[in-house]
Amino acid sequence: MSRVIGKGEEGDHLRLDSEKVSKFFERRAARIPELGATRAVIYQDRHPDLAEKRDAYERRVLTPRLELDGSQRLLDVGCGTGRWTSTISSKVASYHGIDFAPGLVEHAAAEHGQPPRVRFSVADASDFSLDSLGEHEPFDRVLVSGVFIYLNDDGLDSALRCIAGATVDGALVLLREPVAQGDRLTLVDHHSEELDADYHAVYRTRAELLGAIEAAGGVPGFTLRGHGYVYDDPDLNNRRETQQEWFLLSTGTGAA
Ligand SMILES: C[S@@+](CC[C@H](N)C(=O)[O-])C[C@H]1O[C@@H](n2cnc3c(N)ncnc32)[C@H](O)[C@@H]1O
Repeated sequence: MSRVIGKGEEGDHLRLDSEKVSKFFERRAARIPELGATRAVIYQDRHPDLAEKRDAYERRVLTPRLELDGSQRLLDVGCGTGRWTSTISSKVASYHGIDFAPGLVEHAAAEHGQPPRVRFSVADASDFSLDSLGEHEPFDRVLVSGVFIYLNDDGLDSALRCIAGATVDGALVLLREPVAQGDRLTLVDHHSEELDADYHAVYRTRAELLGAIEAAGGVPGFTLRGHGYVYDDPDLNNRRETQQEWFLLSTGTGAA
């Protein structure tokens, strides 16, 4: 059980075991009947009101940043139970949610799927392409909400490259991510009483995230168009070491 701030004893960043991360989310999927679809992915198991408040607040404040007018093709990377689907699917021409946890995708598809306009697929955020998702047109909007903390640095780099490869030039990419406010914090086999499970996550600093985005961008790259804290209401924050932040990126040089 480790909770490491900065680098590990060997001077390297600790790695997450993706099998364990995947098992954690399959267990969350199995607990949907008990927890409900929102808490299954937003947590706060002992503070259900906080989970519901955060969910409503995030959807209200962040959705406009995607600049949707009904014509867009949106990819929701790590869509979980489809928490964003009902808010977004009525504002786009098509929505495709992908997640590596089959139990979460099954729930999302049963609850929100309306193929072919609203689709869900089991896919790894670090290993997908338009072809592998059965898509013929690139996306012009991407949402990644609370997913990169479950990827190692090489997985994050691959995920950013997959996103770049599946989007048009000028696509908007909205990231909502818990960010370390001091040094990077890595949790490996970290037992959480609240979640009744071992937890695994990497909370990167803002500089690390932006560095990864810059490194993966290549040519024409990602451009940072906006950034901020998600919750300006102090009642919605219950952690000091990490804070939810949003980053709006565009691929290439213009807006789609
Ligand atoms: C905290 S939940 C957020 C779910 C959803 N984006 C939301 O905001 O409600 C994190 C999600 O990331 C998914 N995830 C983690 N690692 C992944 C990976 N390598 N590929 C695809 N999905 C992944 C999990 O299965 C889970 O659904």
